[in-house]
Amino acid sequence: MDFFAAAREAEALKEAILARVEQVLLSGKVLQGPAVSRLESRIARHCGRRHAVAVGSGSDALLFALQALGIGPGDDVLCPAVSFVATALAISRAGARPVFVDVVPGDCMMDLSKAADALSPRCRAMVFVQLFGAMRPPAEIEAFAERHGLLLVEDGAQGFGASHNGRACGGTGAASAISFDPTKVLGAPGSGGAVLTDDPMLAEAVRRLRYHGRADGISLSAGGNSQMSSIVAEVLDLKLDHHEAWTHRRDRIAGRYRDGLRDTGLALPAPAPSGGVHAWHKFVVHSPARDALAEALAARGVPTAIHYPRPLPREPVFAEEWQAAAFPVADAHAGTALSLPIHAMLRDAEVAHVIDAVRDAARPLPPYCGAPLAGTIAS
Ligand SMILES: Cc1ncc(COP(=O)(O)O)c(C=O)c1O
Repeated sequence: MDFFAAAREAEALKEAILARVEQVLLSGKVLQGPAVSRLESRIARHCGRRHAVAVGSGSDALLFALQALGIGPGDDVLCPAVSFVATALAISRAGARPVFVDVVPGDCMMDLSKAADALSPRCRAMVFVQLFGAMRPPAEIEAFAERHGLLLVEDGAQGFGASHNGRACGGTGAASAISFDPTKVLGAPGSGGAVLTDDPMLAEAVRRLRYHGRADGISLSAGGNSQMSSIVAEVLDLKLDHHEAWTHRRDRIAGRYRDGLRDTGLALPAPAPSGGVHAWHKFVVHSPARDALAEALAARGVPTAIHYPRPLPREPVFAEEWQAAAFPVADAHAGTALSLPIHAMLRDAEVAHVIDAVRDAARPLPPYCGAPLAGTIAS
C-alpha cells in the first residue's frame, strides 16, 4: 500500500498522460505553454478568483504573494506554529520575520485569540494555513486581518478542493498560494504552484516575479525564474477532470476511518461542518503512544507519517530566537500526531485493512486524553 497516490494516479491515467506529454514535447513549448494559461483559468474559476498565476512551486507562490504585497525587511508576519516549514521560510525569504502563534487543539490551525496577543506595530501581515485539507471559515480570518490592519495571505497548499459555504480554499484574503507538489491532492509530475488573487496589479506583479521582472520583453523589476513546465500543466489539467470524484472518494474513506476507529481511544479528525467540503489531504489521528502505534502499523504493512514532528519555532532554523516561547498545543500535537494513508486510489480492501490494523495495534495502548479535537471521540 502506498502512502501517496502519485504512482497509482499515473497508472490510472497512463495513456492520456503519455499522449499529452508527447504533444508538449513535439510542440517545443515545454515551459509556460498554452496548457499553463488554460490551467490558470481553470484554477482561478475553481477557487472563485479573478486571477491565477502559475509558478514553479507552492513555496514560490507564498514568497511571491508576500513580495507582491510589499512585505519585506523590517516587517513581522504572523505564522502558525504548525505547518510545513515552507510556510515560515517563505516569510524569511521575503526578508521579513515570522512571528509564531500557537494553534487550536481542534483543527491545529492558528489560534486567532493568541494571534491578537502576538501583534506589534511591526506586524504587517499574516499567513493563515488551511491545514490538512480542512478549512476555517474565510469570514472569520478576514475579519481578524481587517480588524488589525493586516495583509492576509492564505496558504492553501494542502486545501485545494476544500470549501466553506460555497467559498473555496484559495479564495481568502488578498492572495492565496496553492501547491501542486506530487504529494498534494492535485499532484503534478514535478513541482508547481499558483498564486490566486482578485487584484490585477498583484497578479501582474507575481507574473513579473515569476520571470526576471519581464513584461513585454523588457525587465521592469527584479525577479528570478519560476516558470511552470507545460507537462506539469497538462497532467494537472487531466487530473482536474477527476478532482471532484477523487475528493468525494477521500471523504468516503475518511468516513469509514471515523466509523471504524471511533472506539479505539484515538482522537480522530472532524469532518467538514454542514455546508463545507473537507479535502482530506491528510487524516491525522492522535495517540499518546504514537511511536508504538506507528511501529505496530508498519509491522502490519500500513505506512504512516508524522505531520509534523516539530512545531515550526522548534525547527533549528528558528529555534534559537524562539526557545523561550511556549507553544503548548503545537508541542502536544508534535508528540501525538500520526497520519494514516488517505488518497483516492486506496482500494476498499486496503481501507478495511488499515482499520483492522489500527484497531489491533491501538487496543493495548493508552487512550488519548489530551485536549479534545473538534467533533472527535477520545475515549
Ligand atoms: C502548508 C504548506 N505550505 C507550503 C508548501 C510548499 O509547497 P511546495 O512543496 O509546492 O513548494 C507546502 C508543501 O508541502 C505545504 O504543505
